[in-house]
Amino acid sequence: MNEERNESEKKKLSYKGLKRLGSLLRFMWPKKWSFFGGLAALTLSSLGTLAFPMLLGDLLDSAHPETSLNHINTLALILLGIFAANAVLSYFRIYLFAIVTQFMLASLRQTTYYHMIRLPMSFFSSRRVGELNSRISADISVLQETFTFTIAQFIRQTITIIGGISLLTLISYKLTLFMLAFVPLVAIGARIFGKAVRRLSKDAQSQVAASNVIVEETLQGISNVKAYTNESFEYNRYSDATNEVIRISLKGAKWRALFISLIVFSLFTSIVGVIWFGVYLVNQGAGLTTGDLFKFILYTLFIGASISGMADLYSQVQKAIGATDSLLDLLEEKTEEFVVEDCGKEIQIAGNVRFEHVGFSYPSRPTVPVLQDISFEVGTGKKVALVGASGAGKTTITALLFRFYDPTSGQIFLDDSPASSMQLRCLRKQMAIVPQEVLLFGGSIGENIGYGKPGASMEEIRLAAEKANALEFINAFPEGFDTLVGERGVQLSGGQKQRVAIARAILRDPRILILDEATSALDTASESLVQSALNELMKGRTSIIIAHRLSTIREADMILVIDNGRIVESGSHEELMQNNTGKYFELQQLGMK
Ligand SMILES: Nc1ncnc2c1ncn2[C@@H]1O[C@H](COP(=O)(O)OP(=O)(O)O)[C@@H](O)[C@H]1O
Ligand SMILES: [Mg+2]
Repeated sequence: MNEERNESEKKKLSYKGLKRLGSLLRFMWPKKWSFFGGLAALTLSSLGTLAFPMLLGDLLDSAHPETSLNHINTLALILLGIFAANAVLSYFRIYLFAIVTQFMLASLRQTTYYHMIRLPMSFFSSRRVGELNSRISADISVLQETFTFTIAQFIRQTITIIGGISLLTLISYKLTLFMLAFVPLVAIGARIFGKAVRRLSKDAQSQVAASNVIVEETLQGISNVKAYTNESFEYNRYSDATNEVIRISLKGAKWRALFISLIVFSLFTSIVGVIWFGVYLVNQGAGLTTGDLFKFILYTLFIGASISGMADLYSQVQKAIGATDSLLDLLEEKTEEFVVEDCGKEIQIAGNVRFEHVGFSYPSRPTVPVLQDISFEVGTGKKVALVGASGAGKTTITALLFRFYDPTSGQIFLDDSPASSMQLRCLRKQMAIVPQEVLLFGGSIGENIGYGKPGASMEEIRLAAEKANALEFINAFPEGFDTLVGERGVQLSGGQKQRVAIARAILRDPRILILDEATSALDTASESLVQSALNELMKGRTSIIIAHRLSTIREADMILVIDNGRIVESGSHEELMQNNTGKYFELQQLGMK
């Protein structure tokens, strides 16, 4: 994917890149007054700096016995005044720009994050978490530098260059023309090298992201790494990735070094050249004073520094454009459609579920049909069990029901209206899932149950926990519902986590319930506790149960046997067992308990 991105990168005009970078300015707009204030301070202080060589030159030319002391004092005082004003202006410029940048970065981060979590599942199945993480951290940090430092420097240097050249022309147009002969040299250098630097810094960034992915993955699965004693394998993987960063970065550094030394060289060449020609002009008596020459040299230094700074800015901007590209690519990904409105009672569904000839392939593997011609109906409040070998497509059926993905062919109906015509938010509000692997968020047990219904009262949470057979173990902790779980708290057992998830689902009070192998990882003792909690949860709700255990399946109103993405048998347990050459019979023989 990175390669693809770099390919399309080369075709882009830098005008487009600048435009995209500029489009990020909209995140700054709410703080526009601070921005303009900072800009004004910057402009004034740059102008003040420009007046400095002029006044200093005049002061030098006053080094005659005839000049009045008054004149000399005035000049010195003006200079002092300018420096004092500049000090105050600098303070405001830095502070105001900091307000703007911090605000902008936070709002950019927030927008990106909010956008990211609303992207469809298909997006996440083709990206790695670490890579997305680096969009929010690394890319946005690059932009931070751009919007504080780069913009300010760019403006200051533009003023210095334009103002400086105008003032130089006033002093001596001949000398100015001579000086300007050196400028195109620097400009051409900037164009050639800037390009190479841009490409390499982008490569280095992707490579850093790739190495971060490794760290994240291994830390998340650290127990696996240790259990398989793959520490050195992971270390090698990480070393390879980080060594690649070194290689690419050094390649970039080589070009940057060349770039900067060339510019420094041309800068000094031009200064020597200008001084030489200026001294020549003074010698020839062309109306140039020593003070003028002094002014001229100072301005040339200013301008030279600004131009070389510009070249540095140029590569900084290119780096920013690279970061903007990745970020905007992400922001331009289409999110799931959420119309943020309250799904009132009128959209409440009863809970009838019907699949009509549903076919499906995952977007990441469009040629592999995962489901084919799936048709079934579950009446309101009924239970259907999906059984079949692992990889048969059971979880995929439930994913379609949640509309994590839409069917490739066929349709899903809820209460006779097509699921595809319903608001995603409203549809998902009617459903709850108890998965095999329960993920608890870092926080208290109470908060984790409350996740099922934001804003639930403590009493509601307690009641849900009671129905889920979870009250007893929760109360056994000294801090009860406030007990922290996850990284910095207690580790719950599989059965306990399951019951927290069930309480969460009870609190949600869904019309349609999905149990995806909710009891398959449990021992017999916790299974019976979880099972009775599940029975409580399933009461009066349409339930889709994916299970291996006979005890769970027996209760179902209908069993669908899935094999290789198709429904191969359906009926009640007794009906299916009558066919002793059938798939269900075979599965039973293989060891459902
Ligand atoms: N996100 C995904 N992207 C691509 N293929 C997937 C994805 N999830 C599952 N699959 C594939 O779809 C098939 C059905 O998977 P799944 O529905 O999880 O099976 P089950 O739940 O019955 O074990 C498997 O071949 C699996 O490899
Ligand atoms: Mg599954």
